[in-house]
Amino acid sequence: MPARHDGRLLAVSDLHVTYDENRAIVQELKPSSPGDWLLVAGDVADGLEDIRWALRLLAGRFERVVWTPGNHELWTPHGDPPELRGVARYEHLVAMCRELGVLTPEDPYPLWEGPGGPVRIVPLFLLYDYTFLPPGTATKEEALEYARGTGVVCTDEYLLHPDPYPSREAWCAARVAETERRLVEAGDDVPLVFVNHYPLVREPTNVLWYPEFAQWCGTTATRDWHLRFPTAAMIYGHLHIPRVTWYDGVRFEEVSLGYPREWRRRPPRDLLRDVLAGQDPPPAP
Ligand SMILES: [Fe+2]
Ligand SMILES: [Fe+2]
Repeated sequence: MPARHDGRLLAVSDLHVTYDENRAIVQELKPSSPGDWLLVAGDVADGLEDIRWALRLLAGRFERVVWTPGNHELWTPHGDPPELRGVARYEHLVAMCRELGVLTPEDPYPLWEGPGGPVRIVPLFLLYDYTFLPPGTATKEEALEYARGTGVVCTDEYLLHPDPYPSREAWCAARVAETERRLVEAGDDVPLVFVNHYPLVREPTNVLWYPEFAQWCGTTATRDWHLRFPTAAMIYGHLHIPRVTWYDGVRFEEVSLGYPREWRRRPPRDLLRDVLAGQDPPPAP
């Protein structure tokens, strides 16, 4: 692709078009210029047809769309082919993206050469491994037991199958190892924009209303990736708490839309976040 000198690098997540009100919002999402790229950090929808509908629409409007899966895409919900579980479902989604011209974590990392660039876009698929433990617990078993006690158990436990891996944490470990290898290979000549459904560090989950939900929100295996690799920004979603925070001078941005009951309560804002705008960290305290 030739170098571009216009356009913006935009990001969004958790469109959840399974909800009609969210579908109406997505229908109105448009680029601000023909050179805009859109990073989609997971939870587009639950069912395959809804995911396809949204990604096809966005791929037809933005010059480039980069997607990474959320937990909802990886569910095997009622109505979708039951044999598409775990890795088979992920590979099916990747094939769908290829057909639509959408980039995924399985493609070479694309280079943004527009304003604010060059930066390398790194869509990550890492899952989680129950290492963001609730207070007072020391193991996954204790963490799950704690969550069952409070009734805050993620639906992933019933619908996100790890097949053929024995567990979600085993799938996560394999993804982390393979991704780390690719990142080392990519070198450090160009700053990276990480796009992952979950934050690479635990701190953003500290504001969760139910802290025990953090065990489904990432892995401690990536806690230093924003320091080990040259990171321009870390884009994530899943928490449905859109905001900007800084860790070690690196900007982390939660870019979710969320469920109608959540976004209705918030003041209106630009849904598409400009990834390379506002790069200055807050002054040191
Ligand atoms: Fe979500
Ligand atoms: Fe999610």
